[in-house]
Amino acid sequence: MADCPGNDSVEDFKYKLISHRGFNLITGIHSPEEVDRIQNWEVQDSDVFVVTYPKSGTIWLQQILSLIEARGDVEATKDQLTSERIPWIEQIGNEEKFISGTPPRIRVTHLQHRFVPISLRQGRGKVIYVARNPKDVLVSYYHFHKYTHVLETPKDFNEFYEKFMEGRVFGNCWFEHIKAWYSHRDEMNFLYITYEDMIKDLRSEVERICVFLGKDLSENELEDVVKHSTFKNMLNNQQANYRQIPDSLLDHQNGSFLRKGTVGDWKNHFTVAQSEQFDRVFQEKMKDVPLSFAWDMSDIIKP
Ligand code: A3P
Repeated sequence: MADCPGNDSVEDFKYKLISHRGFNLITGIHSPEEVDRIQNWEVQDSDVFVVTYPKSGTIWLQQILSLIEARGDVEATKDQLTSERIPWIEQIGNEEKFISGTPPRIRVTHLQHRFVPISLRQGRGKVIYVARNPKDVLVSYYHFHKYTHVLETPKDFNEFYEKFMEGRVFGNCWFEHIKAWYSHRDEMNFLYITYEDMIKDLRSEVERICVFLGKDLSENELEDVVKHSTFKNMLNNQQANYRQIPDSLLDHQNGSFLRKGTVGDWKNHFTVAQSEQFDRVFQEKMKDVPLSFAWDMSDIIKP
């Protein structure tokens, strides 16, 4: 348990997880051949790649970057699905869109470091890595497995906990994902941000992103980006909350892509034993990695 072996097991499901070179892809969503071709993509310096382990706030970054491009004009972001404006590089059919795309090509990916364009790993383009405390990632992912038809519905939380700890999910092992990306950060134009810092002070993080991207927004434009990226406003924005994704993929009757949007929800799910075990694994896996996380709102909002 908790060894994050990369997993070779296959789920017996409509959208199956298939292991490709030690990384789980989802049949019908990803193609191993297309994923393998990504490393040859020619990255330009204006390209931006948001990299996340699933459930770390990808949609949040998609909204923020869409708004930065639109200089805060939320209406201008409503003509297209977020996932079309800022697509996943690993999704079937998105290769051609990348090659023929006009700059700036802004993309998201959940892929591990070894799969992405070699030129990106050699310093072309920009990478924004968004990390979230992995206990909340696990909980968010558990609920997402119940909400989407693309991933197998877990029997219960305990079963999903084991699955996550063993890396038997799309994205595989959380620890491997962050460690590989972070340890290669100096080879890339790399910005590291955390979900918890965005919860703490969204404006400051949006400013950091603007500086990193060389975007000079006015005070009002910046205010608008922040305003339309808050949890409440995104929740009520059909486009920003993925309401337009078909019911065949997301069970809109029984959930919402934006779910709780908080820090520390893991406390409502983990048993004491699971939490202690997770802490031990975290200490062991992250002992050489200089990263720390906020695990609770009290770590963020000091009295
Ligand atoms: P929860 O399930 O904990 O609520 P991803 O896009 O990578 O799948 O991440 C989804 C998670 O990010 C969900 O977490 C979602 O609610 C949260 N999220 C998205 N936008 C947010 C925002 N503006 N503020 C806070 N959390 C947000």
